[in-house]
Amino acid sequence: MKPTVRPSFVRAWPCIASDFSTFFLRLPPPPLAHARNIAQIRHRRIHSSLSPPPPPPLLASSPPSVPPPLFLRPPKYTTTVADLLEWHSWAKSLAASVGSSFEDSDNGPDSRLLCRELNWLMEDVLDGFDPSLMHKAVARDDPDVIVSSRADVQELYRLWKQRIEERRPFQYIVGCEHWRDLILCVREGVLIPRPETEIIVDLVGDVISKDQGLREGLWADLGTGSGAIAIGIAKILGDYGSVIATDLSPVAIQVASFNVERYSLQEKIEVREGSWLDPLKGVEGKVAGLVSNPPYIPSDDIGGLQAEVGRHEPRLALDGGAEGMDDLLHLCNGAASMLKPGSFFAFEVLLFIESPPSS
Ligand SMILES: C[S@@+](CC[C@H](N)C(=O)[O-])C[C@H]1O[C@@H](n2cnc3c(N)ncnc32)[C@H](O)[C@@H]1O
Repeated sequence: MKPTVRPSFVRAWPCIASDFSTFFLRLPPPPLAHARNIAQIRHRRIHSSLSPPPPPPLLASSPPSVPPPLFLRPPKYTTTVADLLEWHSWAKSLAASVGSSFEDSDNGPDSRLLCRELNWLMEDVLDGFDPSLMHKAVARDDPDVIVSSRADVQELYRLWKQRIEERRPFQYIVGCEHWRDLILCVREGVLIPRPETEIIVDLVGDVISKDQGLREGLWADLGTGSGAIAIGIAKILGDYGSVIATDLSPVAIQVASFNVERYSLQEKIEVREGSWLDPLKGVEGKVAGLVSNPPYIPSDDIGGLQAEVGRHEPRLALDGGAEGMDDLLHLCNGAASMLKPGSFFAFEVLLFIESPPSS
């Protein structure tokens, strides 16, 4: 169990482009004459809630095919402080050797961020991580003190080599990402949720606080990935409303279901597999709110992404076709048939803002 939430902005490494925006529009009651279209640019922020409730335990019935993140594994290994410190000092020097080379080549993490990740890895791996105990053991010249851990030291060497040499994202190494007040399990094949996307849940919170119909209505998160948006919305809906979370990727469906179950939201969120609006058959014209963070990177830009993203995150989650607009346009064309009058539609998109030519 974690005592505090790590601010997700410092754990984020993406920078696939400079500006992310969320567009939302509210369909007015018919006739649909004056739909508003508002763009907002979001900067990463520190969460205000510093002491959220601890995450719920892993449920026995969770799908076994999703490997549990490190912090949920039982602390069944033991290691000496000496071995741990030896690994830590090796890992730290590997991180230091990176300097700003990743940053210079593709805006990747620099040594400082990697060292911070190393501390988070220690937090996730050690049972009741307390750096002062380690320091005391060293000060007492008692390096044989035993600590319990959730991975053996050999695995830690392997994981950190993957982080630095293969640029495997930290979130896939530890198997989770901190997002809003949630700790979401992630693995290869599922997009790591980004801080920018939190604004969609904030916008939904805003509209449901003013509109009972929206609060009690049916919501849909299309392309749910880890289930981040769907879970965020379900939590703010509280005792009202319900959510359908969909994805084309079977891995995403598994991971989203795992996360939904971990937060005991199975009664509130139905996870459905299928392409975009197809899984909403049967609820045409009944959806109160539709949200999506679809793939929106132009195909030709994928090769230039930060290595953590381009080499490791699923192309299905990134590639939005030649202009990056294929999925967005598909959703915009089809959304109206799903939404009921007075409903809400929001999606995330990438804006390229050209600077005016300098005179
Ligand atoms: C940018 S990711 C967003 C994931 C998640 N909503 C988030 O914000 O972290 C886009 C998601 O759309 C899914 N996707 C791609 N094509 C799809 C399709 N045709 N139908 C449904 N989902 C699709 C991907 O599998 C991926 O999970």
